[in-house]
Amino acid sequence: MKVCVVGSGGREHAFVKSLSNDSEVVAAPGSGGIEGSTSSPVMEIDADLYVIGPEVPLVNGLADELRSAGCNVFGPGKSGARLEASKAWMKDLVHAAGVPTARYASFDQYQIEEAIEFLITFEPPYVIKTDGLAAGKGVLVTNSYDDAVMDIKQKLTGVAFGDAGRRIVIEEGLTGPELSLFALCDGEKAVLIPTSAQDHKRLLDDDRGPNTGGMGCYSPVPNMSQADLEVLMDIAVHPTVQELKKRDIDYRGVLFAGFIMTPDGPKLLEYNVRFGDPEAQVILPRFENSLSETLLQVAQGKLTIQPTVSADAMVTVVLASEGYPSSPRTGDVIHGLDEARAIEGVTVFCAGVESNVEGELLTNGGRVLNICGRAATLDAARELAYQATNLIFWPGMQHRTDIGASIERDNNREVNK
Ligand code: AMP
Ligand code: GLY
Repeated sequence: MKVCVVGSGGREHAFVKSLSNDSEVVAAPGSGGIEGSTSSPVMEIDADLYVIGPEVPLVNGLADELRSAGCNVFGPGKSGARLEASKAWMKDLVHAAGVPTARYASFDQYQIEEAIEFLITFEPPYVIKTDGLAAGKGVLVTNSYDDAVMDIKQKLTGVAFGDAGRRIVIEEGLTGPELSLFALCDGEKAVLIPTSAQDHKRLLDDDRGPNTGGMGCYSPVPNMSQADLEVLMDIAVHPTVQELKKRDIDYRGVLFAGFIMTPDGPKLLEYNVRFGDPEAQVILPRFENSLSETLLQVAQGKLTIQPTVSADAMVTVVLASEGYPSSPRTGDVIHGLDEARAIEGVTVFCAGVESNVEGELLTNGGRVLNICGRAATLDAARELAYQATNLIFWPGMQHRTDIGASIERDNNREVNK
């Protein structure tokens, strides 16, 4: 089978590597660090299956365009991608489906007063979200009423986030540990990928500093059984798929569901319409089925393979460039990659790199490399990831030192049954 992976980051590198086990794979555009990369436009690449990694091409309708040309595509069309493109639409849909989620209302640019009146009905923490895509940075969670009001004004007037912020969702602030799960959806039904993952969104150790796209991740989440995950499928994912079908939305791809485990039970925080980055990097390598066959079945609307995932643990540490997330510096030569890759149990995915004429790899983005350790236990996987991390260097390189550390991991994520 020939597979075309659309995208250029660490998630796409993980797709390329796992799909290459039994398929010929090209990455469009890929990068200097991803094997099989091509600069050909996606519509000119002939493949049996197209796997779209990031949300932006999905939201812009690339899957619809490919399907109209008769192609098999893993990834929803524009109508399904609205689950991620509009938080207000997503909240309305899950509310209609009876999924437990934070109390909310949405407001547009002419409703600043109404938005503030609604805010007053909540206790802190206050939660203000841009409706549209904001690269993981559009959500403010704050205990300060004044900051919340200022954020509402800045978002609705377009000062922050431009048009993506001119509609906002204000919702009840919930507390508890978070958990993500991934389900494959073939338009008819959703099937759990039986593992879970937890990323670390803040830039600095101990969850300090600004929000990022994700600074590291581990899988599986301890004490989360498959039965617990199936409960989350029952309360959220299955009803969502039924609601999508009711609206004639033929959703084929992955549903990435984010939950918060509150004292009142699990609540759905968000849906993403693609694999997480860096969550994919700790899940896809552990996939025990043929990934290409599984994704092809999803694309064809007839998933019969029951996905299974190795019981091994994986931890990935994101190495980011100086200035990330606000103004990443690029163009530095990356040292130590071969030495890191030589460690058994270590895989390095390239997230933001390019190669120069001498064949050296250079930093070319905010998140640059994903250093993954795989072992029988999370602690051993973590040790491998940091052993390899310590061999890599470029000026200004940043990373967290507490990815998958025990305090964060031992949070109790009780699923009320
Ligand atoms: P989202 O993009 O909606 O998942 O929001 C990004 C992050 O903001 C989540 O991973 C949570 O850490 C936090 N967050 C979102 N919604 C809430 C909420 N209702 N209460 C508390 N924290 C939230
Ligand atoms: N790591 C979070 C995301 O991909 O949205």
